[in-house]
Amino acid sequence: LFAAVEMAPRDPILGLNEQFNADTNPKKVNLGVGVYYDENGKLPLLRCVAEAERQMLEAPKARGYLPIDGIAAYDLAVQGLVFGAGAEVVTGKRVATVQALGGTGGLKIGADFLKRLNPNARVLISDPSWENHRALFTNAGFQVGTYSYYDAEHRGIKADAMLADLQAAEAGTVVVLHACCHNPTGYDLTPEQWAKVVEVVKARGLVPFLDMAYQGFGEGIAEDGAVIQQFLAAGLDFFVSTSFSKSFSLYGERVGALSVVCASSEEASRVLSQLKIVIRTNYSNPPTHGAQVVATVLSTPALRQLWEDELTGMRTRIRAMREAVVAELKAAGVADDLSFVTRQKGMFSYSGLNAAQMQRLRGEFGIYGVDSGRICVAALNPGNLKAVAAAMAAVMQG
Ligand code: LMR
Repeated sequence: LFAAVEMAPRDPILGLNEQFNADTNPKKVNLGVGVYYDENGKLPLLRCVAEAERQMLEAPKARGYLPIDGIAAYDLAVQGLVFGAGAEVVTGKRVATVQALGGTGGLKIGADFLKRLNPNARVLISDPSWENHRALFTNAGFQVGTYSYYDAEHRGIKADAMLADLQAAEAGTVVVLHACCHNPTGYDLTPEQWAKVVEVVKARGLVPFLDMAYQGFGEGIAEDGAVIQQFLAAGLDFFVSTSFSKSFSLYGERVGALSVVCASSEEASRVLSQLKIVIRTNYSNPPTHGAQVVATVLSTPALRQLWEDELTGMRTRIRAMREAVVAELKAAGVADDLSFVTRQKGMFSYSGLNAAQMQRLRGEFGIYGVDSGRICVAALNPGNLKAVAAAMAAVMQG
């Protein structure tokens, strides 16, 4: 039966974890996957999460099946966070929100629903984008193309070319957009550039699908979510996938959501009924624990404040690491202007290193980043910074 099965390539991001774990170099550093580590190089258990879990343990509950669309209080908390608790779209019940298995799960539910709705639509992702975007939408049966995004020469975004590509897209094309902290480049559109994107998306009848995996890691929770308000103000129907993997440091719990903004509450009920079919025929219904933790934190004022403070702490530490790595690279003799690293937002820096240089970093120094040149700044700390900078300087200088 399996004689003809070919060996699949490793995943470009999670496959690096497998390689990293197998590496016996005691000095190895994992800057591959987008995971936040604290200043001691440890994966944090947020205090707000530990406290919510303590409260949950005090009143242990049996685990029945959840509703297909997840915990109602969780879905509501997601809507409050993404759209604003008192937003008309929420109070008017125009959003269909379902609990999902991480942000990836939210994307997949949306992709499967879209494929049923409009089987011939194309999907456009940014050039470059998160490696899994192309794979996920391709596996859902779509033709996936790209719109211009990264400007390597000027270390920024080709905003005009991006708009032109969207302008040229056929009506009904699904456009996957990174709401904040663009993965992998770290370059985000300005509010003015977003306004132009919204205008073109509306004029051309495109279907916006916003991936929001890093809310709070750019400028702040509200600031990073501001783009959502622009899409709402334009009166568009759109998709938003949410991930709490990073912002709650709950990677292994697979806590995310999909929200679909509709024209009316009646439309939202019909959309929800279809999302539930997608979920039921994939994994039936979601797990309890992670979503219960997030719902508890978001709906308990003191825990919510603690979460916001802890998220601010993570964001601030990443920023400090951006400054520090630039300073260390300079000290190691790199003469190029590296200020772009401090302008990038979120966990990643698109370093500009090519695949051969990234492979040298891995092979010679045990420093793991993605072949695209993406490194996870959120995994830098005072203990590994000098070694990483010295290795990067060595491969940059040939
Ligand atoms: C990443 O880009 O490293 C993260 O989003 C983790 C993942 O699933 O790829």
